[in-house]
Amino acid sequence: MNIVVYGAGAIGSLFGAILSKNNNVVLIGRKSHVETINKNGLIVKGKTNIKKKVLSFENIKNVSSPDLMIISVKSYDTEKTMIEAKKLISKKTVVMSLQNGLDNLEKIEKYVSRDKIAVCITTHGAIFSKLGVIIHTGFGKTIIGNPNGENTNKLFDIVKIFNEAGIETTVSDDIICEMWIKGIINSSINPLTTIFNCKNGYLLENPILDKLVEKICKESTDIAYSYGLDLDYNEMIMKTKKVIYETNENFSSMLQSYKKGKKTEIDSINGVILKIGKKNELNFFLNDFLVHLINSI
Ligand SMILES: NC(=O)c1ccc[n+]([C@@H]2O[C@H](COP(=O)([O-])OP(=O)(O)OC[C@H]3O[C@@H](n4cnc5c(N)ncnc54)[C@H](OP(=O)(O)O)[C@@H]3O)[C@@H](O)[C@H]2O)c1
Repeated sequence: MNIVVYGAGAIGSLFGAILSKNNNVVLIGRKSHVETINKNGLIVKGKTNIKKKVLSFENIKNVSSPDLMIISVKSYDTEKTMIEAKKLISKKTVVMSLQNGLDNLEKIEKYVSRDKIAVCITTHGAIFSKLGVIIHTGFGKTIIGNPNGENTNKLFDIVKIFNEAGIETTVSDDIICEMWIKGIINSSINPLTTIFNCKNGYLLENPILDKLVEKICKESTDIAYSYGLDLDYNEMIMKTKKVIYETNENFSSMLQSYKKGKKTEIDSINGVILKIGKKNELNFFLNDFLVHLINSI
């Protein structure tokens, strides 16, 4: 399959490197990263070890329309990226969002119809170590689905090539629900770990933060429910605490962005939940507070 990964950072470069085992992969990323890859090959260390030449560019000038375009920029870059990326989209192209955040689908939909979009939720972990080098920090599960639940043969082909490459992947008939489950979990973990500059595990060790996680999770789940997602609070809190427990030694992506002095994805996670909470006249105090606090620091 011909694949373009748009946004060769941590997760995009990892998936690109793994998929390049049995597909034609082109990476589009920042100049310094792609120049290093073209010179030395793309290097993946940690849970996976790969060193491979993967064709990389800083723009789409010499790239042809792919069968699969993976969008792996941060949520705040999706819109800008799509303006450029749309030029590569042809009839055959499936555009797949490999991102966290609850508003990427709407941003992508402005440029491509829903039937040609796939959403990919993954619990793999990756860190951008240095130019040309990615660390695969943790294996995880990956779920792919069409947002309308209309999973075509093409989508099953994509799932097949993911599995063949070694990315354990399943299809979901309700990928929007999966996206929201991850969104609610992130809304309850990421801002708190950033404000308290702590590893995920500290949220369970500190009894006050443990209670606060529960309260945020409840508010986010109630808002998601009002938006039509049939999610149960008790299940969501269990899932959230399980993630905290399993990633207790990790620094959340939001905290990592903050430490690097970069923008965070707060507006696409808690910010979206807040907007829906306001619109549906529900309690949104905690999400409002977190969005303001994170944006102010
Ligand atoms: N890393 C993980 O373990 C992981 C796991 C699951 C999901 N996710 C999600 O995946 C998405 C990407 O995360 P990430 O950690 O991979 O972020 P990242 O390392 O910042 O990667 C994004 C890359 O895309 C580049 N970029 C942005 N706009 C571009 C453009 N128009 N053309 C070319 N390159 C562009 C960025 O460059 P600049 O930094 O210079 O802007 C950056 O190098 C996020 O939504 C994240 O939440 C990440």
